[in-house]
Amino acid sequence: MPPSDVMVPDAELSVVRKSLPHDSAPRHVTGSAAYIDDIREPAGTLHIAPGYAPIAAGKITALDLDAVRTAPGVVAVMTADDIPGANDVSPKLLGDDPALAGDTIRFHGQVVFIVIAKTRDQARRATKKAKFTTVAETPIIDVDDATDLVLPDYAFIQGDPEAAIATAPRIFEDSFRVGGQEHFYLEGQIAMAVPGEAGEMLVYSSTQHPSEVQHLVSHALHVPSSAVTVEIRRMGGGFGGKESQASQWAVLAALAAAKTKRPCKMRLDRDDDMIMTGKRHDFRVDYRVGYDDEGLLQGVDVTFNARCGHSEDLSMGVVDRTMFHADNSYFYPQSRVLARRLRTNTCSNTAFRGFGGPQGMVFAERMMDQIAYRLGKDPLDVRKANFYRDGSRDRTPYGMQVTDNLLHELVAELETKCDYRARRAEITAWNAQSRILKRGLALTPIKFGISFTLMMLNQAGALVHLYRDGSLHLNHGGTEMGQGLFLKVAQVVAEEFGVDMGKVAITATRTDKVPNTSPTAASSGTDLNAMAALNACKIIKDRLFAFIEEKWQVPRSQVKFRDNQVLLGNRVMSLGELANAAYVDRVQLSSAGFYKTPTIAWDRDKAEGRPFFYFAYGASCTEVTIDTMTGEMKVDRIDVLHDVGKSLNPAIDIGQIEGGFVQGMGWLTTEELVWDKQGRLRTHAPSTYKIPAASDIPEHFKVELFESDGARVDTIYRSKAVGEPPLMLPISVFCAINNAVASVNPGTVPMLDAPATPEAIMKAVRAMTAGAD
Ligand code: MTE
Ligand code: MOS
Repeated sequence: MPPSDVMVPDAELSVVRKSLPHDSAPRHVTGSAAYIDDIREPAGTLHIAPGYAPIAAGKITALDLDAVRTAPGVVAVMTADDIPGANDVSPKLLGDDPALAGDTIRFHGQVVFIVIAKTRDQARRATKKAKFTTVAETPIIDVDDATDLVLPDYAFIQGDPEAAIATAPRIFEDSFRVGGQEHFYLEGQIAMAVPGEAGEMLVYSSTQHPSEVQHLVSHALHVPSSAVTVEIRRMGGGFGGKESQASQWAVLAALAAAKTKRPCKMRLDRDDDMIMTGKRHDFRVDYRVGYDDEGLLQGVDVTFNARCGHSEDLSMGVVDRTMFHADNSYFYPQSRVLARRLRTNTCSNTAFRGFGGPQGMVFAERMMDQIAYRLGKDPLDVRKANFYRDGSRDRTPYGMQVTDNLLHELVAELETKCDYRARRAEITAWNAQSRILKRGLALTPIKFGISFTLMMLNQAGALVHLYRDGSLHLNHGGTEMGQGLFLKVAQVVAEEFGVDMGKVAITATRTDKVPNTSPTAASSGTDLNAMAALNACKIIKDRLFAFIEEKWQVPRSQVKFRDNQVLLGNRVMSLGELANAAYVDRVQLSSAGFYKTPTIAWDRDKAEGRPFFYFAYGASCTEVTIDTMTGEMKVDRIDVLHDVGKSLNPAIDIGQIEGGFVQGMGWLTTEELVWDKQGRLRTHAPSTYKIPAASDIPEHFKVELFESDGARVDTIYRSKAVGEPPLMLPISVFCAINNAVASVNPGTVPMLDAPATPEAIMKAVRAMTAGAD
């Protein structure tokens, strides 16, 4: 059954494409939604705290844990030597991320030992009693000082960029920085492991990737995967930070549980969480550009220098995605996009909403700005001139053709709706008479590729049971982190059986129900899992159709599942009556389902193929005011128009867009990570690391969904992924600030780095006037 038969008109649908509230919303706001720390602890549960060395690089020559062992409440202490199996928590078993470091320290915060005690407080206090003797080396903190790589350099090359730049009418080169980002999930990293009677282990882990946690626990305990079950009902946010980096805490909890034969829980303190876990990669971007008098690009040569931290982790996929989005929405006729993945003595950087893509796009948008300011043109005009176009200007730097381009229509619609031109004129006039306050306006687009670029991950499984009373039980490999995945998949199942949402039980993700799953990431949770669930529903329905045909001689074309009823010819019954009749006739009412994304292919070695099933598009227009005396900035107005195809749930999608926007705005404006020369993270608490607050959002924050016929490929009900793309919309905030800075001295090109903190804004403002006085 090809999924194209889900191209049903809205009027015939009763559950999908409806703005249903998040299934857990009342529980979220009343505090009754159970997170892992809310699970009632089994009697005798012990608590784990991590201990780490006071250096960022070097050797431990001696470690005295005697005082730790004898501290009040301590039951056991474990070091690397106590691990029965593999001491490795890296994704794909890369082997460079120990659960517990041995004598070599590669970043400040690397866990060396754990304390298992009766209470969490006792465990934490005991860790402080460790006596380390160390030989410190000078840590490599910044990419500027790094030479060692976590992975070989990798490039996309189209044509002869060298020659294209050399012969272009205009050329410039530049280097800038784009910062990293702490995930700041509200629920920190946590796991609880409960040992079974014969060496099995049940692990509750706040993870986006239960199957990987299962594998790593099995390797660490040296037991088969079948002995380990991982369960997760919901996370209090993941944002990529629990894709690979939830594993370590789950493995440590399982190791402790195996050793003590008691349930063990590990919940990281917020400061430890921030110090120990990886973040969004930050970059120094070096580039040369050739363009013409109209602002059209001729050649682009860009090098992304990524701070990967001490190990590889997900730096292959993350930084590849930076490269895949270094074009954002623009056609680069000839280009070289090179990435260098540098090893530093800092936490190992990892997935974060957008998976490296946002950093690539910030480069593209900064380049557009600079071309515009050099030519004295409106940046929006330069952007539009460089958009992908069907025909000769539709090939990306990685060779894939853009065949579902919505940029022109979508941006034109937003430009009109938000009154861009009139506001531009008004702001220019206002700035001319305002000496200290300056306003800025920017409209920026996004184009984001949907699919895992690691091909094998583009698969999903589901499990659906129809019970004799007509109620349905739904399970799939995706995880819920607040994004509404469970609700969307349940909507699809309810639609398929024509029942209310209340008839579909949403259940926790478990590796023993649906095995060998992919992480919930790359925004593909709904695309993959809803299709797998649909497949399971269709299998059950096929059996029911056959049963109905045999029992009542009603052909499948005359059977309808709708309005909580089954209509078979002129007979009407409830789904429960049908299910029970089928059961009595010994029809199987349960099925697994499976889906793999069709048509995609990517050969990384040859750098060729079609890595993305489709693109999601969007645009936003932001207006800001800056104070050129203090660097303060205020966002005055935001307008967003975003493409989610035919939305499965407009309310959830708008929530994702709003949340993603604000999270991205924080990344580009207030969130700044600072490590000192000794490699210690100085911004390891909300007191020093500032995420956006409700008060940072302007009164005018208007988000609309772009109306279209939906995805041009067979996605679930023609919807498109929404999880990550909106994070890149607030690049318009950054560019609007840049625009305000530009107005300080028209004709001079602003040089703003990200994040545009007050300090960065002041620096950019000063540079504008430095030549003038
Ligand atoms: N929304 C909430 N509320 N919490 C989250 O942790 N993670 C984001 C996004 N939206 C996240 C979120 C990230 S990084 C991804 S990849 C997607 O959700 C994953 O879910 P999906 O594939 O179901 O969209
Ligand atoms: Mo999202 S960064 O792909 O978990």
